[in-house]
Amino acid sequence: MARNYYIAGNWKMHKTRAEAAALAKELVEALKDGKHKYLVAPGFTLLETVAPIVKGTNILLGAQNCAVEEQGAHTGEVSVLQLKDLGVQAIILGHSERRHNYREDDALINKKVLLALKHGFDVILCVGELLEEREQGRAEAVCERQTTEGLKGVTAGGLSRVTIAYEPVWAIGTGKTATPEDADAIHGSIRNVVEKLYGGAEAAKIIIQYGGSVKPENATQLMAKENIDGALVGGAALKADTFVPIAKFA
Ligand code: 13P
Repeated sequence: MARNYYIAGNWKMHKTRAEAAALAKELVEALKDGKHKYLVAPGFTLLETVAPIVKGTNILLGAQNCAVEEQGAHTGEVSVLQLKDLGVQAIILGHSERRHNYREDDALINKKVLLALKHGFDVILCVGELLEEREQGRAEAVCERQTTEGLKGVTAGGLSRVTIAYEPVWAIGTGKTATPEDADAIHGSIRNVVEKLYGGAEAAKIIIQYGGSVKPENATQLMAKENIDGALVGGAALKADTFVPIAKFA
């Protein structure tokens, strides 16, 4: 497969600065001979601490969200300009926790995607169905809609900086993983959507990560699938002991 594996750790709302610094240092050391592409996404208050630790290493610095506006009267929001100033290289957008707990819809997420790309960031666009949507046989349709709407107005040039993360909501933080076969099927359908929108060459290039209870024990089987190009890891990203074996899966 020509695509490079991309393993990202989403630290969500965990860790103090001291804890974040310690983990980042462990990862830099443990992954310096790692063969894949890596990213860590600490919370906003930790970015300034982690930035100098990962700078110049093979680990990219990511943020977990950004405001939909560039700047202005938006109490409690964090702007792309502020993230750029901290050395952030990529932004996770459309995470299911943002979609479902904070009511972010496809249109809002799309605006954020366009803003982040405009400011030179890479984007990890998350998609994924709820359990009831899967039970109704709508998993593919939901992911197709979220992908299509999320990418509206993104040029082929912009797409080269977009990674899609398929995270079935029922698998996040639950210990339930999609089977490699089920995940691969959705990844394949997402790749078909990209092909419809941008053509075969772009579809063959785009990285599609799987997320949802990825652990050292299941990473290798997931990554072995044709359409699974990496992982977006939550819980297991909080410790080097569990993240490093995923990042260095054989
Ligand atoms: P878990 O790995 O904890 O299931 O979280 C996945 C996730 O939401 C990563 O963004």
